[in-house]
Amino acid sequence: MEWREFKLFNIKCVICISVLALPLLTVGCGSGSGGGETPVAGTTEVTTTTTNTVNTTTVKDGTVVDTAALISLGEKIFNDTSLSTPVGQSCAGCHTASAGFDDPDNSNATSLGADGGSIGNRNAPTASYAAHIPDLQTIQRPVAGGGTVAVVIGGQFLDGRAESLEEQAKGPFLNPVEMANVSESSVIDKLKTAVYVSDFTALFGADILDDVNKSFNYIADAIAAFERTELFSPESSKFDQVQDGSAVFTVAELNGLNLFNGKAQCNLCHHTSGGVEVFSNFEYKNIGVPENTVLVSALGGGFIDNGLGDITMLATDNGKFRTSNLRNIANTSPYMHNGVFTTLTEVIEFYNVRDIAPLVVAEVSDNVDNVGNIGELNLTPGEINDLVSFLQTLTD
Ligand code: HEC
Ligand code: HEC
Repeated sequence: MEWREFKLFNIKCVICISVLALPLLTVGCGSGSGGGETPVAGTTEVTTTTTNTVNTTTVKDGTVVDTAALISLGEKIFNDTSLSTPVGQSCAGCHTASAGFDDPDNSNATSLGADGGSIGNRNAPTASYAAHIPDLQTIQRPVAGGGTVAVVIGGQFLDGRAESLEEQAKGPFLNPVEMANVSESSVIDKLKTAVYVSDFTALFGADILDDVNKSFNYIADAIAAFERTELFSPESSKFDQVQDGSAVFTVAELNGLNLFNGKAQCNLCHHTSGGVEVFSNFEYKNIGVPENTVLVSALGGGFIDNGLGDITMLATDNGKFRTSNLRNIANTSPYMHNGVFTTLTEVIEFYNVRDIAPLVVAEVSDNVDNVGNIGELNLTPGEINDLVSFLQTLTD
């Protein structure tokens, strides 16, 4: 079984944080390169311990369970289409392994809900490598000339509204345009009739389903444990093979990588310092993505997505979204929070000419980022193709 070969991320970091109780951002992952004030991927509260015989996981409320059984349960829940209203939609429906853990249905900018008609207001991001997104936190970043500036990083969903992978996993069950259950207890009622319900009670206790809130939390713990397995973050792409010396880039791919880290300046935001490279620094930016008129009219007109600004209620955060992870990006069309672009070439063309007349009109015109040469990169068509070739090497 695939999930048995799981690997847990940054366990060393998790342990050093919980034991030494150091402030998160002064702890480096110490994985050779990087280090420094590196955000730690994954959650800070879940610890996994290996003894000679059994792996155990301490879930969020402190309960210690068998890790393999927890993961197996999480896999069953993730794929269970009977936990939606009406039945028929599972997490896997919008995060399908063969589509890079993204929605395989590209006919809409965003995903269809369990009712087959409702559409969401966001394009589904890949759930692959989501376990590497650090929990939502504010860090103090040194600025040139002294002092620091507070920067929000991490959190799940494109606006960071779920602090952790566990919190994220609870959202879709109750989201009216996703799995559309009216309450936690309606989810638990469905769980009671699932074929694997005995796995759940074996792990958490015979009477556990009488406690709706605890049971709902354990569902999230199980899903998150499954999402932390190697299945979601296999590091099996050509990019990884080049890193370990078992493959070489073509001339176009190598040129694309050099452009990514050079002339095109993608690495100003799409670079992870420390831990697994998922091509995001997890910061929030408004890059001036244009409105998706098709989505806006499907939603009834007048819709503006303020992203982080709607969570923090700060006008200075309007239009900001978390910098996307670029793993499996070739499989996750359409692109951006509103699915406005359908190809990677269109995405790069946007970064290339955003600020050159005729200007691209942003969905949210405040706070648009102007870091480096973003918006006027002066890339040739051949260079754009090479960047696409490089991005295609990130597919597992
Ligand atoms: C109807 C389609 C749909 C279903 C079903 C669905 N998701 Fe998602 N998922 C999305 C969308 C859309 C987003 C982005 C939403 C946002 O940012 O507001 C998302 C975001 C996520 C993220 C965050 C990734 C990131 O980069 O922040 C994870 C992890 C995830 N989903 C896992 C799950 C799990 C686990 C389930 C089942 C409990 C699930 N999804 C069910 C569409 C779906
Ligand atoms: C200023 C920071 C910044 C720079 C520079 C930047 N990006 Fe992004 N990128 C973002 C943010 C933020 C998002 C998410 C925006 C959204 O969803 O509205 C994003 C989204 C993307 C997406 C879509 C991801 C998805 O899942 O929909 C791709 C592809 C991408 N960037 C590639 C690039 C490439 C290639 C470059 C260099 C040419 C680049 N980016 C430069 C911040 C940046």
